[in-house]
Amino acid sequence: MTHLLSISDLTAGDIEQMMRLTDTFAEVSQRAIPKVPALRGKNIVWLFYEDSTRTRLSFEQAAKRLSADTMTFSVGSSSVKKGESLRDTVLTIEAMGVDGIVVRHGSAGVPWQIARWLDDRVSVVNAGDGWHEHPTQALLDCYTIRQERGSLDGLRIAIVGDVKHSRVARSDVLAFTALGAEVTLVGPPTLLPPSLEGWPVRVSHELDPLLPDLDVVYLLRMQRERMTEHLVPSLREYSARFGLDVRRAASLRDDALVMHPGPMNRGVEISAEVADLPRTVIIDQVRNGVAVRMGVLYLLLGSGVERVLGPELDVDPGELLAVEAEGALR
Ligand code: CP
Repeated sequence: MTHLLSISDLTAGDIEQMMRLTDTFAEVSQRAIPKVPALRGKNIVWLFYEDSTRTRLSFEQAAKRLSADTMTFSVGSSSVKKGESLRDTVLTIEAMGVDGIVVRHGSAGVPWQIARWLDDRVSVVNAGDGWHEHPTQALLDCYTIRQERGSLDGLRIAIVGDVKHSRVARSDVLAFTALGAEVTLVGPPTLLPPSLEGWPVRVSHELDPLLPDLDVVYLLRMQRERMTEHLVPSLREYSARFGLDVRRAASLRDDALVMHPGPMNRGVEISAEVADLPRTVIIDQVRNGVAVRMGVLYLLLGSGVERVLGPELDVDPGELLAVEAEGALR
């Protein structure tokens, strides 16, 4: 495994192993000095062509906790402004000596293109490509559900809202169903992809009848910046039919979770009150994002990759990390 581009590149067993590895890094994150030398000497660049708060900062935090060196690329203050192409930018960065590129781009497929240009010499992580995929978001979502409910197997999860423009929904569907959850996409037909052929999901255009049976309500942001067409009559009307407010949240079972990838539009897909309920685990998702991304960077750039993901070896990742850390400190 050189790159993390899509959840579809991972088996259910791979995801489970990544969850166990994340347990180890969650423990590291709670230490008084939350730092291990696992990626000392590795250099990672953040290549973000689109805005981000959670993904970018949690990758940065993850890299620091693993003792990696990092370089930040800001489109607004780079030679992209002078017309430099993506390929020239990537090759320029590679020439400086990098081991990993974490890329977010508005166009689907860019992380694959970068991986091809670099011919597997540098690990590429997809931090969100257009409407297509956001694999580390799906991994942290799986981890958060597993933390709260033990397992995803057999859980009923509704992903609600703007599925059409959502890379999070695509990656979540792949990851949740791989781990045995039953996923229903909920929204008006205009916010669902034109074809769902091959998607292992159910579809509903109503939210209210589903609520009492759900284990997880996963709300998607209404993506005003990607909505050039008028897909809903108004945000107010959308909110009235699909927004999770206190009245709708009261129909949920006591142990049902409310999730959102962020950033939220309070008062649109989720009311301000529901956003702050104890059952709403949005802040846990963000917190877990650091440990999940530590695991991803470690798997791609650390020396234990084959040993951790190799099907024939069931190595305890915690033990592996402790051994590596001890070795690096000697
Ligand atoms: N969930 C998510 O990707 O958030 P950011 O856009 O802030 O990174």
